[in-house]
Amino acid sequence: MDFARQLKAAINIVDVVGEEVRLKRAGSSQRYMGLCPFHTEKTPSFSVHSGMQIFYCFGCGAKGDIFEFIKEMHHVTFPEAMKILADRYGFEMPQRPFHSDRESRLREAIHRMNEIAVAHFRGLLMEPHGAAARRYLEERGVSARTADEFGLGLAGRGGSALIQILRREGFEEYFEESGLVIKRQDGSGFFDRFRGRLIFPIHNEQGKIAGFAGRALAEGDEPKYLNSPETAVYKKSLILYNLNRARDAARKEGRILLVEGYMDVIGLCSAGITEVVASCGTALTHGQVKLMKRFAGQVIVNFDPDAAGARGAAKSIEVLLDENARVRVLELDEDLDPDEYIRKHGAERYRELASQAPNYYFWLADQARKRFDSRTAEGRGQVLQFLLPAVQRIPDKIERAGVAGDLAAYLGVDRGIILDQFKKAAIDPRGRKSPFREEPVPAVEKLLLRALLQYPDLRGELAPRLEREIIEGFRLRPIFEALLALFGAQPDFEYAELDARLEDSWRDLLSRVLFADEVEENGDMDQARLDAISCLRTLEMRAREGRVASLQRMAKEAIDRGETKEAMRLMEELDALKRQHRRVRTGR
Ligand code: UTP
Ligand code: MN
Repeated sequence: MDFARQLKAAINIVDVVGEEVRLKRAGSSQRYMGLCPFHTEKTPSFSVHSGMQIFYCFGCGAKGDIFEFIKEMHHVTFPEAMKILADRYGFEMPQRPFHSDRESRLREAIHRMNEIAVAHFRGLLMEPHGAAARRYLEERGVSARTADEFGLGLAGRGGSALIQILRREGFEEYFEESGLVIKRQDGSGFFDRFRGRLIFPIHNEQGKIAGFAGRALAEGDEPKYLNSPETAVYKKSLILYNLNRARDAARKEGRILLVEGYMDVIGLCSAGITEVVASCGTALTHGQVKLMKRFAGQVIVNFDPDAAGARGAAKSIEVLLDENARVRVLELDEDLDPDEYIRKHGAERYRELASQAPNYYFWLADQARKRFDSRTAEGRGQVLQFLLPAVQRIPDKIERAGVAGDLAAYLGVDRGIILDQFKKAAIDPRGRKSPFREEPVPAVEKLLLRALLQYPDLRGELAPRLEREIIEGFRLRPIFEALLALFGAQPDFEYAELDARLEDSWRDLLSRVLFADEVEENGDMDQARLDAISCLRTLEMRAREGRVASLQRMAKEAIDRGETKEAMRLMEELDALKRQHRRVRTGR
């Protein structure tokens, strides 16, 4: 057993979570409830399952095992979480269980090189040569303290200062892969990527330095921002500027602000509005939105007031909605970007505007109203047509109807009219089916799932009986299919491994099913086994009945077609099946 599994087997998640969250047992079951430490709430929606050894929050969707809990609580990586738990519960960590392969060594080396680079750049900013850059920051309202907090620095003009340090520290092997260094065309050596620029370190969500952006200081120096290339530790589609600092505030506030530029982030943060992030010179990706959604379900988009900003906002909003984020739109007047605005009007005013920022659909309705005359019937038709595509994009039927109703009220038109309009076009344009809220999950499936997940010892007996015929009609079919495939490969798999195999929507459904409380919890393994077996018997009987019915139908059809021989064969098969059933029922 590897060390992580050993820890998990020895430590109870109820104790781990109980250190930081006041938990109360829910009835006599294996579930405990408490206030979620990851978002602000007044009534508990955070639950811990002692049987399954996982936690789940119905409010913000946070979930996982003991390691996930520690990672999220303390902003640490998986190995660090192991270390914390090992220390806390008196286990000896095996020496360096990681970093054995080249890829891990590379990542570690680049992180180290980035730290060295930051120290170097920050030093240069403080030197006499850095006076002009310091003045530039001052003019832009960035105090020395803020510059320090964000690790801002200055890259020398020469192009070899950093290289010399990195070489001295023995990192030559990793030069080309680090993103800090560029190889000369003629192959005669290397030079520093960042030269004569103001440096912004970019951290991953755990606070490790992933890469850099360098802003031009000299007039006409192109591009305005030079960014690190992708490296083993800098995946642009998965990094958001400032998320490491924004995450706690985002959880507390339940929202996150999305702005365009590094300077906007710094401006807002230094004014005390810390739940703010920006993507680093690329269009917002689905991965980035997923990352944001781990910390807040609501995103306020506040882009620059120019045409490029509007385009960027529209694209980002599409991705945000795709990922089911709740989107609000903050538009600032006077043609100011967030950084300029807050310096001119102060944090209070900005905060006020942010809290009043309209929900995306209302914002869109405002746009429509500006464009069309909603006092006339024709104008109202145009407004609806304008809104239709956005509403149609909402994958969930019930939510779609809800938004349509809200919009009707907002626009002052009859609810019936707007719903009709939307219903007519309510076929999901992307053909995506949402598995939620359509049908409830039958109790038999829940019981089987719990038994299989919670008691690995029962899997050998139960899994082989879940034949294709039985699973076919399941509401949770994809989950059972993934589970059986996993069982085939690795019978003692854990919840997290199943979770990793599922698509997002099924993953959500799985956690909700496991933590739902309509089904009485199985007291212990024996009880769980008995429950599961009785479920299986029912299902098997149903499957047999189905087989009998279809054989009967086929035999009748064969007779109708005059194919007597085929009909005889089917009848014989039917007889055999019935005999077999009788044997099963009378216990052989
Ligand atoms: P902006 O030009 O609005 O930058 O570009 P900014 O951060 O507000 O900087 P200041 O106020 O002009 O100093 C917005 C973002 O687009 C990316 C950067 O992430 C920047 O913060 N960008 C812009 C680039 O990656 N490269 C560029 O050449 C320009
Ligand atoms: Mn700007």
